[in-house]
Amino acid sequence: MSGAALAERPATGAQPIDAALRARILALRDGLLHGLIGADAMVERLLIGLLTGGHLLIEGAPGLAKTRAVKRLSDGLDGSFARIQCTPDLMPADLTGTTVWRQDAGDFEFLPGPLFHSLVLVDEVNRAPPKVQSALLEAMAEGQITVSGHTHALPDPFMVVATQNPIEHAGTFPLPEAQLDRFLLHVLVEMPDEAAERRILDLVEGELNHHAEAMPVRLSVEEIRAAREAALGVYVSPALKDYLVRLVAGTRTDAAAPDLRAAIEHPASPRGTLALMVAGKARAYLRGRDHVIPEDVAELAADALAHRIGLTWRAAAEGQTARGIIRGLVQRVRAL
Ligand SMILES: Nc1ncnc2c1ncn2[C@@H]1O[C@H](COP(=O)(O)OP(=O)(O)O)[C@@H](O)[C@H]1O
Ligand SMILES: [Mg+2]
Repeated sequence: MSGAALAERPATGAQPIDAALRARILALRDGLLHGLIGADAMVERLLIGLLTGGHLLIEGAPGLAKTRAVKRLSDGLDGSFARIQCTPDLMPADLTGTTVWRQDAGDFEFLPGPLFHSLVLVDEVNRAPPKVQSALLEAMAEGQITVSGHTHALPDPFMVVATQNPIEHAGTFPLPEAQLDRFLLHVLVEMPDEAAERRILDLVEGELNHHAEAMPVRLSVEEIRAAREAALGVYVSPALKDYLVRLVAGTRTDAAAPDLRAAIEHPASPRGTLALMVAGKARAYLRGRDHVIPEDVAELAADALAHRIGLTWRAAAEGQTARGIIRGLVQRVRAL
């Protein structure tokens, strides 16, 4: 199969990419990159979340600029922003809001909680107790919240970026596997190398002495919606869809890699396949293509699928990881 076949969409579906709008999205990306040294992968995934309406789980040790990245993203967007610091004594109403009796009005009034913002940073989500986690994940899945029998619509766009710290185990509540599935991507942030660390020193020192450089753009809600429509309109050829299916089927059957399959206790669901396709579209859009190529899929497979599979206890005891299994599948499954 040649590259041309990947791009050859049926005439009806064609939708030329709006160059001016894409340039604004790339300016947002460059503004993020400028203040986040060596964080190209995290920045691309934040934008993929923004372009697909997907939520992100970012995992990494403290001090790796996770909070900084999300704050910076909020500076580049016109919608409202809220940050929720999770603690073990948090209650669902602290996120969703509460209904109060108004003596003067003689009626109940709903006071919306911090989830009613366009971009919500949920810091250290694994320190929140299970009831709070399930309220959060329900909001993420449904785009609405029910409080005291009344349903309240969340803003559109609505994007949650949750962070978690892999080191801290005492006093944490790991997200249940079924709920992890609600995140479009699970992003791991690594320690910077020495060169990057050196640049971080210069950057942050400069910010302490002068002031931080503002984001070059501030995208309106309408622009975000239009960019979403454009990204989701990116073409996925039938051959590429077959590849997506082969890859995910590799977590369910022995066809691709029986040894890898044997390490999997529960496989990825169609929600995982859809997530990978949609994320691939957004990556293609960011890279200036109007169609998805196998590289988009290969690059995002671990982030889109690994948090959706469960390993057997034996595989986990042997030190295998879900990301390693997905990367193995990407190497073994034929792309086209
Ligand atoms: N890659 C990076 N680029 C720029 N600044 C960084 C980077 N990594 C760490 N920092 C700096 O380190 C500090 C911690 O960042 P923060 O966003 O609070 O981390 P986290 O939320 O991951 O714990 C901030 O002052 C931030 O500027
Ligand atoms: Mg933080």
